Amino acid sequence: MSIIEILEKIPLFSEMDKSDLQKIKEVLKEKRYSRDESIFFETDTGDIFYVVYEGRVKIYNVSRQGQVKILDFLGKGDFFGEMALIDEIPRSANALAVEDTLLLTISHAEFQQFLRKHPDILFKMTKTLCRRLRKADLEIELMTFGDVKSRLVSCLLNIIKKYGIRKGSVNIIPAIFTHKDLSEIVGTSREVVSRILTQLKKDKLIKMGEGKEIVILSSAALEKLLKESH
Ligand code: CMP
Repeated sequence: MSIIEILEKIPLFSEMDKSDLQKIKEVLKEKRYSRDESIFFETDTGDIFYVVYEGRVKIYNVSRQGQVKILDFLGKGDFFGEMALIDEIPRSANALAVEDTLLLTISHAEFQQFLRKHPDILFKMTKTLCRRLRKADLEIELMTFGDVKSRLVSCLLNIIKKYGIRKGSVNIIPAIFTHKDLSEIVGTSREVVSRILTQLKKDKLIKMGEGKEIVILSSAALEKLLKESH
């Protein structure tokens, strides 16, 4: 597949015509990361913008005591590293490749020039940033008024939206999401995650699938539970 065909498949660039894609191609570099390799650290100065072409990237913060808070897992077509380039202060979070990953990168100078010439891309990026902010706002609301169960339910629903595999009437969360991941998204221990999943299983809202998959039997019932929880 040519790099232009690759770019056409990335939502951020998908509506651009071939001549503009050609210009992006000229400034893009490919960077490969192995599983568990760090891409950058929080507080690094940032001079590169990244688009995930293949693989998965974990965006996370670490407390002074070493506790990890996962902000998101980014996959094919997602972008990151825009914040430090826009507000010109250090990286707001750490980024790590959780599987072998191919990233497309643009330097700070090219990125700024590119956005000035293509305000439509800036608009698309802003839409994604709004989506991230809405998700973060809901997390703050659940941290303030909800309980751990509601935070875990919200986390399962978010994962389904992006990574869920639909099979008939159920949604499957692939085994790549471990209980440790869920605990670091929700901000609790693995034991608490396991206890709540057992409770959701007893309530027939989920069941365990093959391997370590989580089968969501009714997303609607989980949405209802979440609405009633805060
Ligand atoms: P930057 O601050 O340059 O480096 C860390 C990146 O993580 C940041 O840009 C964003 O691209 C990304 N990021 C920060 N917060 C979130 C979030 N809540 N959800 C998804 N991505 C995020």
